[in-house]
Amino acid sequence: MQVFDSINTFRTDLDAGRAGGASVGFVPTMGYLHAGHITLVQRAAAECDIVVVSIFVNPLQFAANEDLASYPRDLDRDLELVAGAGATHVFAPSVSEMYPTEVLTTVRVAELSDPMEGAARPTHFAGVATVVAKLFSVVGPCRAYFGEKDFQQLAVVRRMAADLSMPVEVVGCPTVREPDGLAMSSRNVYLDGDQRLAALVIHRALQAGAAAIVAGERSGTQVRNLMAGIISAEPTAVLDYVEVADPDTLAPVDDLAAGQELRLLAAAQVGRPRLLDNIGVTVPSES
Ligand code: PAF
Repeated sequence: MQVFDSINTFRTDLDAGRAGGASVGFVPTMGYLHAGHITLVQRAAAECDIVVVSIFVNPLQFAANEDLASYPRDLDRDLELVAGAGATHVFAPSVSEMYPTEVLTTVRVAELSDPMEGAARPTHFAGVATVVAKLFSVVGPCRAYFGEKDFQQLAVVRRMAADLSMPVEVVGCPTVREPDGLAMSSRNVYLDGDQRLAALVIHRALQAGAAAIVAGERSGTQVRNLMAGIISAEPTAVLDYVEVADPDTLAPVDDLAAGQELRLLAAAQVGRPRLLDNIGVTVPSES
């Protein structure tokens, strides 16, 4: 596995690989990797010849009051993990390599960036879209693997790649969970024992929402109320939002129709971290 910190050298190496007929799989990360990232790398390794992992804690996607300085980092451990999962290339640039001058050009995916995470973190998705656009430009034509855990991010990136005709196929991969259902996240490291238990309420609420739909509930408002009630009943969790949304546009859905694909999403603060989760559900046909 080769480790690069220079855009030019990295780009030249990948161009040479592609010229020789190799396909490129790309897993963008901010490091401090967990089993969820590793499944993305393994999938890329199963489907592509060259497997690139980027490790870059992107300052543009953190607001001034957020955890940029303390975001967990462990490059040596990350390198070991991705080598074991089949990565052939790691791109771990410095901030000055990525942003040598003040960033005047940003990418904003309107509408998809505004609700939910965007309402809580108004500058977040422009930071994500800008760094991912830059990474796509550096990596070049590839399949890019993203976890569904950050479902809104996946929708934003997918739309950006389509709108800007980027030579990238964006692949969404299922959320990886702990055995008790907690969605894996680098920020779970901030949870103490009690908070870790309390955090399970988010997945429980989503499951209850999906079960209500499967049992016949057809009002998005009722499903939202049910999920919000479950999260609000957990004293250690502070509810941010619950949503019943169209999986492509992320628009709220109120009247659920038979056969409709939906995404149930939720976020809550549990101790220090804001935790996100989501699940998919299909509205059953009337029997
Ligand atoms: O999901 C993440 O880790 C980040 O938002 C990403 C996509 C690597 C961009 O910095």
